[in-house]
Amino acid sequence: MAALMDRAYVQMRPWSANDIASTVSARHTLLLTHDHGFLIAQTVADEGEILAIATDPTQQRQGVASSLLSELIRQAVQKGITRIFLDVAAKNQPARAFYAAKGFAQVGMRKAYYTLRDCSKDDALLLSLAIAQGQDAPAPTSQGSGAKSG
Ligand SMILES: CC(C)(COP(=O)(O)OP(=O)(O)OC[C@H]1O[C@@H](n2cnc3c(N)ncnc32)[C@H](O)[C@@H]1OP(=O)(O)O)[C@@H](O)C(=O)NCCC(=O)NCCS
Repeated sequence: MAALMDRAYVQMRPWSANDIASTVSARHTLLLTHDHGFLIAQTVADEGEILAIATDPTQQRQGVASSLLSELIRQAVQKGITRIFLDVAAKNQPARAFYAAKGFAQVGMRKAYYTLRDCSKDDALLLSLAIAQGQDAPAPTSQGSGAKSG
């Protein structure tokens, strides 16, 4: 996962294997995996937060992240989660386009929050998606729902 993240996070600083291991072993952390990507989220009470999502660069635009997000939403509905949050770097246009396509809306901003791989600073945009209980997950992608819980 660290190697995949290193390939995928071209602007953002990737997590180390130790960062990933300690995060996924924490209580409330949810790890969803796919052959070509993964999603790490935490859920507390009725809120979820996406901490990381990555698709291998050779497999992007084929529905991998859509499949992972669909699975997260399916599990969020089961857990009674009503809202999912995340931070995204303002310069991270692919991720912003992905979240916009999935209906996330900007609800805040943290100025110069991130230090990018090139050591420049970037703003963090706080995005949110409301989860209606009984809501269907987003429409299946061409790959179907290939995400697995881990
Ligand atoms: C963001 C990311 C996870 C998307 O993964 P993906 O598997 O390629 O996403 P999907 O194939 O499910 O894309 C679903 C939709 O999102 C939008 N989208 C995804 N990537 C896009 C891009 N580069 N440019 C424009 N729109 C994009 C499109 O609407 C796409 O549907 P379409 O391909 O039918 O047009 C991937 O680009 C990635 O790993 N980026 C690096 C890591 C990262 O920045 N993570 C987010 C940190 S907050």
